[in-house]
Amino acid sequence: MSVWDFANSNLKSLHVYEPGKPIEEVARELGLDPDSIIKLASNENPLGPSPLAIEAMKKAADKMHIYPDGASFELASAIAKKQGVEYKNLILGNGSNEIIEFLYHGFTQRGKSSVVASRFSFAIYKLMAELFDVEFIEVADKNFGHDLDAMLAAIKPNTKLVFVTNPNNPTGTRVSNEELEKFVFSVPKNVVIALDEAYYEFCKNPPDTVGWIKRGANIVAMRTFSKIQGLAGLRIGYGLANSELIGVLQRCRQPFNINAMSQAATLAAVSDANHEENTRQLNFAGLERLEKFAKQHNIPSVPSHANFMMLNVKDAHRVFVDLQKRGVIVRSMKSYGLPEWIRVTIGTPAEMEKFEQALLDVL
Ligand SMILES: Cc1ncc(COP(=O)(O)O)c(C=O)c1O
Repeated sequence: MSVWDFANSNLKSLHVYEPGKPIEEVARELGLDPDSIIKLASNENPLGPSPLAIEAMKKAADKMHIYPDGASFELASAIAKKQGVEYKNLILGNGSNEIIEFLYHGFTQRGKSSVVASRFSFAIYKLMAELFDVEFIEVADKNFGHDLDAMLAAIKPNTKLVFVTNPNNPTGTRVSNEELEKFVFSVPKNVVIALDEAYYEFCKNPPDTVGWIKRGANIVAMRTFSKIQGLAGLRIGYGLANSELIGVLQRCRQPFNINAMSQAATLAAVSDANHEENTRQLNFAGLERLEKFAKQHNIPSVPSHANFMMLNVKDAHRVFVDLQKRGVIVRSMKSYGLPEWIRVTIGTPAEMEKFEQALLDVL
C-alpha cells in the first residue's frame, strides 16, 4: 500500500509553486561565487530591509524565548492607523500569501465552490483552488491585464471569491481606478473581491481601496511588507476589509501566525516613510531605464506599474538558463503560459547594468 492510497487525493496532481531560484542554489549548481550573482527573480527590494526594522530586530533578539502577542495588537493598530481604518478592519498574515489561504478556508467549500481569476495572474490562487478542491475559473486576459467585464460575467451562483491583482503579477499591468470602482460595486454581494495589492505602493495613482471598503464594497484588500519595505524574509502581510469579513478570516488563523521578530521589525518599518520613498524612487528610475533599454534593442516589453517588467526574449527558458551562467537570476514565464517572456525585478543601477549586459550577450 502506498501512502497516496489514503492521502488527500488532490495533492497527487497538485502543481508545485516554483519560486525564484535562490542565489546559493545557482552558485552550487554552476560553481559560481554567490557574491557574484544577482537575483532579479522574486520582486524583492534592492535596498534591503528598512534600517529601522534592522535596529528593532537587534533589540528584540534577546526576547525570542517568549511567545509573540497572538493578536499582534501593537503592530495591527499601527498599520490600521496608517491605512485610515480601525483595528477590527485588519488581519495580519504570514505573508499576504497566508491571507489568500484564509480566504479559501473562510469562504469556499470542497467540491462545491468556484473562484474567478484572470489568466496570467499570481500562481498561488490556482494552486490553492486545487488544494481546496474548488473550481478555478480562468478568464482570458485583455492585453496581458484583467478583463473586468469578462470576469464579472464569469461569476457563477457558486462563486465565492474573485481575484483581482492590481498591479498584476507577473504582467505588471493595472486596471484604471474608474474601471475597478465600477467593478467592485457590481460584484454580487455574496462574492468576496480578493483584491491583491502586493504592489500597491508602486502605483503612481493608486485606487481608493479603503474608501471603497468604507462605502460597503465586499473587498478584502491584501498588502505586504515583502516588497515596499524589503521584509520578504520575515513573511508579513495584511488584509483590510469590513469587520465582518475580517471576523471570518480571524477564525481561520493559527493563534501565533505572526512571529515576535516580525512583529518587532514591522512595527518599526511602518513608520519608515524614508525607506518607502527611496524604494519607490529607485523603482521609478529603474522601470524607466529598463523600458528605454528594451526599446533601444527592439525587445518587446509590457509597460509595468510594479517593481518588475516582462520582456519578450523569444525563448524564455534558454535565456533564463544562459543568464544564470552569467550570474543573473530572472524568472522564466514558461510555467505561467508565456514561454517567450522573462520577468525581471528592478534592481539597483549596478544590478540593472549587469542584467542588461548579460542579456545582450545571450540574445
Ligand atoms: C501578487 C502577489 N500577491 C501576493 C504575493 C505574496 O507576497 P507575500 O510575500 O506577502 O506572501 C506576491 C509575492 O510575490 C505577489 O506577487
